[in-house]
Amino acid sequence: MRKKVTKAIFPVAGMGTRFLPATKSVPKEIMTLVDRPLVQYAIDEARAAGIKEFIFVTSRGKGALEDYFDHAPQLEQELRKKGKDQLLETLKNTNMDSGEIAYIRQHKALGLGHAVWCARRLVHNEPFAVMLPDDVIAAEKPCLQQMVEAYEETGGSMVAAMEVPAEKTSSYGILDVKEDMGSMVSVGDMVEKPPVGEAPSNLAVIGRYILSPNIFRHLNRLKTGAGGEIQLTDAIAEELKPEGDGVYGYRFRGQRFDCGSKAGFLQATVAFGLARDDLRGDLENYLQEIMAAKKAAE
Ligand code: G1P
Repeated sequence: MRKKVTKAIFPVAGMGTRFLPATKSVPKEIMTLVDRPLVQYAIDEARAAGIKEFIFVTSRGKGALEDYFDHAPQLEQELRKKGKDQLLETLKNTNMDSGEIAYIRQHKALGLGHAVWCARRLVHNEPFAVMLPDDVIAAEKPCLQQMVEAYEETGGSMVAAMEVPAEKTSSYGILDVKEDMGSMVSVGDMVEKPPVGEAPSNLAVIGRYILSPNIFRHLNRLKTGAGGEIQLTDAIAEELKPEGDGVYGYRFRGQRFDCGSKAGFLQATVAFGLARDDLRGDLENYLQEIMAAKKAAE
């Protein structure tokens, strides 16, 4: 039987410069999507997929992130006293049990591959997930769960994949498809951020991975790639060699929001707001009003 995927690495060491000045004092991962920090969406998705150990690769200035996952006894006591049971429950759902979460610091911003490599001693010889919290995916069945189910059939390594417009391919890891089986593709090659016009396809890697522990061996070489960084994509591509375990792309069902960009974050805010029973009515009315006003002014 295949080993179960129970550990996930969350690379959250980035400085979040695209969100300055907010990120001067607030880690990007704590920024709020409706009423939950960005990172909570990734945690919930990981739990749904059976993840039991959460490994955060952080950096200087990410203290608020550690506090967020800590118990808040005073706050809990206050809510209990006031009989605010529902809020208490919401709060408790964000607590991590002792030993369930680990933090490792990436001392230098050397790239995503390096960030994952920093967690090598916590993973050992078993398959593991990597989740980039910037990529928020709204889906009936959470994306990582879809992937874990697919992975049970394939083994090897698996990346979430999505078609992107040709002019955007230079922002992603891009897959060269060997065999297209619909929701699953067998990968022939993969390139990190190919220059415009040189992408082998428009099938992009999205921030969800299930990886063979071999990846750490490839990362041990700490070879730099695109942008002078140690790229995770390059280490995964090593698994495409005859001695590797193979790589699959998985076209997930769901909508992905790029919350690493302001426009993506705003779109996610609207979409997740509209999905909420307590907010839909007011938000819909407001959107209709401003669209009508905009039309009238044209
Ligand atoms: C990272 C990966 C890239 C992937 C992308 C998905 O890039 O390196 O392969 O396509 O995430 O969001 P980043 O966006 O961190 O530059």
